[in-house]
Amino acid sequence: MNNFSYYNPTRILFGKDAIAKISRYIPKDAKVLMLYGGGSIKRTGIYEQVKQALDGFTVLEFAGIEPNPDYATLMKAVQIVRDEKVDFLLAVGGGSVIDGTKFIALAAAFDQGEAWDIIKTDAARELTQAVPFGTVLTIPGTGSEMNYNLVISRRETGEKLSIKHEAIFPRFSALDPQVSYSLSAKQIRNGLVDAFMHVMEQYITYPIGAVVQDRLSESLMQSLIEVAPRAMRMDPPDYTARANFMWAAAMGLNTLVGRGVPQDWTTHMIGHELTALYGLAHAESLATVVPWLLWYKREQKGDKIVQLGMRVFGLISDDREALIEATIDALAAWFNSLGMPTTLTAYGIDPDEAAEAVAKRFDDRGWALGENADIHGSDAAAILRLSR
Ligand code: NZQ
Ligand code: ZN
Repeated sequence: MNNFSYYNPTRILFGKDAIAKISRYIPKDAKVLMLYGGGSIKRTGIYEQVKQALDGFTVLEFAGIEPNPDYATLMKAVQIVRDEKVDFLLAVGGGSVIDGTKFIALAAAFDQGEAWDIIKTDAARELTQAVPFGTVLTIPGTGSEMNYNLVISRRETGEKLSIKHEAIFPRFSALDPQVSYSLSAKQIRNGLVDAFMHVMEQYITYPIGAVVQDRLSESLMQSLIEVAPRAMRMDPPDYTARANFMWAAAMGLNTLVGRGVPQDWTTHMIGHELTALYGLAHAESLATVVPWLLWYKREQKGDKIVQLGMRVFGLISDDREALIEATIDALAAWFNSLGMPTTLTAYGIDPDEAAEAVAKRFDDRGWALGENADIHGSDAAAILRLSR
C-alpha cells in the first residue's frame, strides 16, 4: 500500500429531516447566496424547504446554473458575491450546481487575473481560501457533496476540465433521500452508473496489497448492484433503496477508497471530452468508454479485472482469459440492464470521428493517463474505435 494522507472535513446530515437542520451550520450573521439550477427545485418543493430552513438569514439567490456548468454563467455569480459581499454560499442541486458553487467559491477569492486560470494553470495552488459553502444535494451520483473536486465547462471554447482544491470541501451537505423521488428512471440510472464508475476508477488498476480499500470498493460496487433494481422503482419510490444509493454515491467519491492505491481516471477524462463534443450526459459518456478501456488494457489490468469478476459479479473460472472476458461482459450487461447503452454508435456517434477528435485534444494537452501514465491520444483513439 502506498503512503497517504486522508482529510475530509465535510459534515454529512443524512435522512428525512436533513434539510431542516442546515441552519445550525451556517454562521448566524452570514449573508447567504443560494445557488440552484434551472428550476427543478421549485417544482419539487425543495426550494420551499430550503427557504424555511433559512428563515431569519439574509438570503440572495442565483438561479440558472446549467448541467455541465458554464464558466460564463458562474462568473456572473462571482460578480454578485463580490458586489454584495456574500460570505456564505448554499448550493441546492446536483453535481453541476455543487461544482459550479465550488468554482464560484474559489474564483471570488482570486484576484490574480482571469478566473479560468484557476482551472487551466497552477494558479489555484496559490489560493489558500475560498468562500465557505454548504450543499443540499438533489441528485445522487457525482459525490461532489463530499469531496474537493470540481468539473466545469467553457462553452465558448468547447472545454470541460476539472481540478481539486482543499479549500472547496463543503462545510456540510444535507442528504435527504426523498429529494430523489422526482428524478426520472434515466436520472437514477445515470447516478448509479456514475457512482459505480467512481469506485471502479479507484480500483481497476493493479493489486497493491490494499485489502481494506479493495474490500470497501467491492462492497460499494456490490451495494449499488444490489439496490439498483429497487432504486429504479418509481411508483412508489423505495426510500431504503434510495438511501443506500445516496450514501454509496457519496462514499464512492469522498476519496476514502482511493487512498494509498493507484488510480486510473481515463474513462472520466475521455468521457468529459465526449460530453464537450457530443453533449452526452456525464454517466452516458462513461458507459461508452469503460468496457472498451478494460478490453484494451486487459493484460495490464488483468489481475484486478479477475478480482472484480469473482468478488463483485460472482464469476468462477480457471481460465483467466475467459474470466476477464466474462467480467467485462458482466459489467456491460449490468449497465444494459439499467437501460444504459455501452457504445458510441447507440447515440449515432461515429467512433472513428470521436477517436480522432479526442486523440487530438489529449495530444494537444500532452496527457499521459492511467495508473502507468501510458494512455496517450493514440490509446484513447484505439479505445473509442472499439465502442461500436
Ligand atoms: O437544473 P435543474 O432544473 O435543477 O435540473 C437538474 C438538471 O437538469 C435535474 N435535477 C436535479 N435534481 C433534481 C432534478 N430533476 C428532478 N428532481 C430533482 N431532485 O437534473 C439535471 C442534471 O443535474 P446535474 O447536476 O447536471 O447532474 P449530476 O449530479 O449528474 O452532475 C453532473 C455534473 O457533475 C460533474 C459532471 O462532469 C457534470 O458536470 N461531476 C462532478 C464530480 C465531482 N465534483 O466530484 C465527479 C463526477 O465524475 C462528475 O464529473
Ligand atoms: Zn463521474
